[in-house]
Amino acid sequence: MVAEMNGKIGGKSLHWAELGFEYIRTDARFSARWREGEWSEGELLASEIMPLHEGSPALHYAQQCFEGLKAQCARDGRVLLFRPELNADRMREAAGRLLMPVVSEALFLRGVEAAVQANREWIPPFGSGASLYVRPMLIGVGDNLGLRPAREFEFRVFVSPVGPYYKQAGLAPISLAVSEMDRAAPRGTGSFKIGANYAGGLLATQCAQRQGANEALYLDAVEQRYIDEAGSANILVVLRDGSLVTPASAAVLPSVTRRSIMRLAADRLGMVTAERPIDLRAEFDDFVEMGACGTAAVLSPINRIWFDDAWHAVNPGQSGGKGSDAGVGPVMQELYDLLTGIQQGEISENYGWIHEVHLS
Ligand SMILES: Cc1ncc(COP(=O)(O)O)c(C=O)c1O
Repeated sequence: MVAEMNGKIGGKSLHWAELGFEYIRTDARFSARWREGEWSEGELLASEIMPLHEGSPALHYAQQCFEGLKAQCARDGRVLLFRPELNADRMREAAGRLLMPVVSEALFLRGVEAAVQANREWIPPFGSGASLYVRPMLIGVGDNLGLRPAREFEFRVFVSPVGPYYKQAGLAPISLAVSEMDRAAPRGTGSFKIGANYAGGLLATQCAQRQGANEALYLDAVEQRYIDEAGSANILVVLRDGSLVTPASAAVLPSVTRRSIMRLAADRLGMVTAERPIDLRAEFDDFVEMGACGTAAVLSPINRIWFDDAWHAVNPGQSGGKGSDAGVGPVMQELYDLLTGIQQGEISENYGWIHEVHLS
């Protein structure tokens, strides 16, 4: 157990603007245990090392799920989470799918807030371009051999200050390579945030990177035709008719960022939006802008895709209109500014998306 800590926000002297997306050990993590049908109160622990039974179902049968969200420091010093209730919902769905006990929204938020509060010195200051990544996880632990659910579980939340997920800082274009491997089957587990989906993606990501892309792009597993998603982000496309579309697929993770951007595009930019199957080859010439979105990726414009043995530029005529940087289209720029402005408390919203973590 660690004592409550009272340092000031950003008190650690890190080079915030130079952070990448790497694990940095912070002072405390929240841990609660489920035994005999009940969750413990939970506590803050100093050690990042988890003693685990070698028979733990999380290790053998991937009985585990996780979440990812960010705490950001606003200009006035408030610490803000973005729609954490949706992460709690998603963890509840994953727990149900993998026969794990439900982490209630109250326990989820208590764990997230406790981990953020105890590590206030690790919260990057406003304007640094960095944020505090929060990683809640639920894992099946304890002795076991056969394929059956664990009898004990741990809900843990650790945090780490992070910079941009892709190497470039801010809004910079990335490239994707269509994977020859499938990520998820239509009635499989693709829509749940569970480790089992990601181990299989490691090789696909490596292949995409060997091709010179930042990440893999998965097409639907049945026809290899419709866009599913990228390795760690959902896909958004601005079409020639001015609409914003995103793939309808039962196999993709329901991204909190994507749901928020679709709403902002409709409400604030007056765009026509649709969630529908997107046929990559048949529709590619109509793509005016394309983006990958997620908590880690934020909103990264995609400027080229590798498929059918060649690179294909997204809207090669795009000259970079008003307010846009090289290869960053105006709609992606506007959506990025809106989203990050709301997340950092710079732009007001009346959806109730911002959840303040009180530090005292
Ligand atoms: C496979 C996958 N798709 C999409 C996303 C984006 O989801 P969110 O916006 O909730 O972070 C993530 C995670 O960040 C992911 O791992």
